[in-house]
Amino acid sequence: MLRTIYFENGQVYMLDQRKLPWAEKYITCRTYRDVSNAISRMVIRGAPAIGIAAAMGIALGALKIRAKSKDAFFRELDRIGNVLKASRPTAVNLSWAVNRMLAKAAELKDRSLDEIREALVTESRSMLEEDIRINRRIGLSGAEVIEKGATVLTHCNAGALATGGYGTALGVIRAAFEAGNQLSVFADETRPFLQGSRLTAWELEQDRIPVTVITDNMAGTLMKQGRIQVAIVGADRIAANGDVANKVGTYSVAVLAKANHIPFYVAAPLSTIDLSLRTGDEIPIEERPAKEVATVFGKPIVPKDVPVRNIAFDVTPHELITGIITQYGIAKEPFEKHFREMFARSDEPV
Ligand code: MRU
Repeated sequence: MLRTIYFENGQVYMLDQRKLPWAEKYITCRTYRDVSNAISRMVIRGAPAIGIAAAMGIALGALKIRAKSKDAFFRELDRIGNVLKASRPTAVNLSWAVNRMLAKAAELKDRSLDEIREALVTESRSMLEEDIRINRRIGLSGAEVIEKGATVLTHCNAGALATGGYGTALGVIRAAFEAGNQLSVFADETRPFLQGSRLTAWELEQDRIPVTVITDNMAGTLMKQGRIQVAIVGADRIAANGDVANKVGTYSVAVLAKANHIPFYVAAPLSTIDLSLRTGDEIPIEERPAKEVATVFGKPIVPKDVPVRNIAFDVTPHELITGIITQYGIAKEPFEKHFREMFARSDEPV
């Protein structure tokens, strides 16, 4: 499996996810602005992956700051952090990662600038490694929710490409498969960016996990036919009450799962949980350029003057969620209580 992102020789390399599955090409980011643009333009996407990218963006920024004093260095680092945080609004992992990097720099404020710069590069690299370890733990926590030989529905891409590696929702699927469960997967195509058909199918095929792509509007009929036993998706931000923001269409999957008595799970690291927000109503939802919906491969598919909306995420109310799988087990209703217990047990910086 190709690496999603890595930091080498003072540069950040990202697999260009806009080009998959047709081409496996890396782009090079030389400045924090390159990283911010890559996040906004979806070269890299998925909540944990954009968090890692932002952390590496801070490291790149720190390497390039030409400040005369330490105060000026820290002011500039804060400004860079704000630019990176503004690259995309919904996934909380972005500001979580930037805040963690700024806290690391602050902790080392008495060291030389070169030492701080080096520590930031190391910290961003360890965030990537840590994310892979967390995903493996999420996988182990959740593997049991997939019955032997079951067919799993997933929406969007919450896999290796959306994280440091291994994935959250796909991490659960991978862990079950590695444990000998002969499961299979339906991947929602996920209009308009096609994360399901282009990315999830690409990843699962590489691991030889049986996958079939369906259009987003086919899930209901397959559930009704008894062809789907469980739905597992990722998350971009989870409010304290357990409401989950994820790729638009997730809410529809959850409603359909409820109507068809199918368990609906969300898999995410603790860094995706935002206890500062009481409910999902407070989560900022990104709206992207209309042309992503109005054109397919550059060709218009909507009459010229007809308005088009491109809402990128939706919120699934916690009542529709069977459980939220984290690296510390499966949180259930009352979600906030379980989240707080998990944070209290956490041995990673959160
Ligand atoms: O717009 P995207 O592709 O960044 O949206 C990604 C998702 O919605 C994922 O499901 C979510 O970030 C979880 S990734 C582990």
